[in-house]
Amino acid sequence: MKIDIKNAIELSKFKNKQALFEKIKTDLHNKKAEGNEFTAWVNLPSTINNDEITQIKQTAEYFNKNTDYVVVIGIGGSYLGAKAVISALEPEFTNTNSPKILFAGNNLDQDYIHNLLQFLDNKNYGIVVISKSGTTLEPAISFRIFEKHLIDKIGNEAKNKIVAITDKNKGALLKLSQQKDYKTFVIPDDIGGRFSVLTPVGLLPIAIAGFDIDKLIKGAKNIEKQTSINSDNDIAMQYAIARNILYLEDKNLELMTSFHSKLHFFGEWWKQLFGESEGKSHKGIFPAFADLTTDLHSLGQYIQDGQRILFETVLSVEQKNNKLTIPKTKENLDNLNYLSEKEIDFVNKQAEKGTIKAHISGGVPVINISIEKIDEYNLGELIFFFEKACAYSAYSIGVNPFNQPGVEEYKSQMMKLLKK
Ligand code: PA5
Repeated sequence: MKIDIKNAIELSKFKNKQALFEKIKTDLHNKKAEGNEFTAWVNLPSTINNDEITQIKQTAEYFNKNTDYVVVIGIGGSYLGAKAVISALEPEFTNTNSPKILFAGNNLDQDYIHNLLQFLDNKNYGIVVISKSGTTLEPAISFRIFEKHLIDKIGNEAKNKIVAITDKNKGALLKLSQQKDYKTFVIPDDIGGRFSVLTPVGLLPIAIAGFDIDKLIKGAKNIEKQTSINSDNDIAMQYAIARNILYLEDKNLELMTSFHSKLHFFGEWWKQLFGESEGKSHKGIFPAFADLTTDLHSLGQYIQDGQRILFETVLSVEQKNNKLTIPKTKENLDNLNYLSEKEIDFVNKQAEKGTIKAHISGGVPVINISIEKIDEYNLGELIFFFEKACAYSAYSIGVNPFNQPGVEEYKSQMMKLLKK
């Protein structure tokens, strides 16, 4: 992967920030910074437990042989990483040879849950329920409903088709799984939800969906090395420094854009990572995501010409996985023959380049992050890159990246209303 920040900031300003960010990085690596009890993800790719990977693959194999669908129940960090990777890799309209992953527990929408139950009535399915705390209301309600549905449908066999991923020692989900003898995987104490995609939280659903978790980890490992304490070309730091300079210049909104529709949920994962990590004490950049060219026809006007409060981070993909050219027609009634025999991606790339030029001329600073193609390795690189950059960014504005006091506030207000 590559990053280009020259269209976003002046390089002289970058140099002035380097010492501060080196200190942040040293403190993060030496566990000297606030929240250090949640930093085991910093060297997770190179320290992943091989026995656990084997168990994940065996469980995935079991679901592969015995189910057609797997409902992954979780919210926030307990689903977005898996959703991002799976939706980037799975074909949009055709099935693969692996179980199809369906997500639940990420909302309280009765109609959504009802429709999914109806769909599953005559399907062969299993459940993976994920909650670190084991007490989050949205996944807990969905799990109660889907667990009952599965038991009513297949009786005792349901026990083999339910897996829980939760804390090692505490929480209702752990207690319930132990009592009912469900297989469990552990979310490590020292890794928070939104940094947990390379733990069983992300790896198990991704493996069940049939994707190569070794390649994902390999990509992450490469960025772990490139951003290690001894590295003098830390690309995550380049991104974090650029963001910090822009933030101090009153660019309070970062719009991540991508011209590749398969990266939509990667944008959702990234929004959570940065939003929940940085948005504290009335500080932080608001993370937003737009699918282009789609949203050029809705948000394009604002980006080009609205309040100058935002900068853009374009997530580019160099090569497509499939080839498709625009056909030539004899009549040329639509006047498109000037593009005939050209790949659609050629047109998309010109749209991307043209949009970047237009936005820069409209006063929008643009950071460009690019990957070679959408595959497990490159997604692994991106995941670890953004996790590292997120920690640097949050520390640079003086907030602890690893807590979420604001989220607790909505939970406590809701619980009061629910009269728990
Ligand atoms: O990043 C986080 O910590 C949160 O987004 C959590 O992942 C989310 O709130 C779900 O929590 P839990 O896994 O405890 O159900």
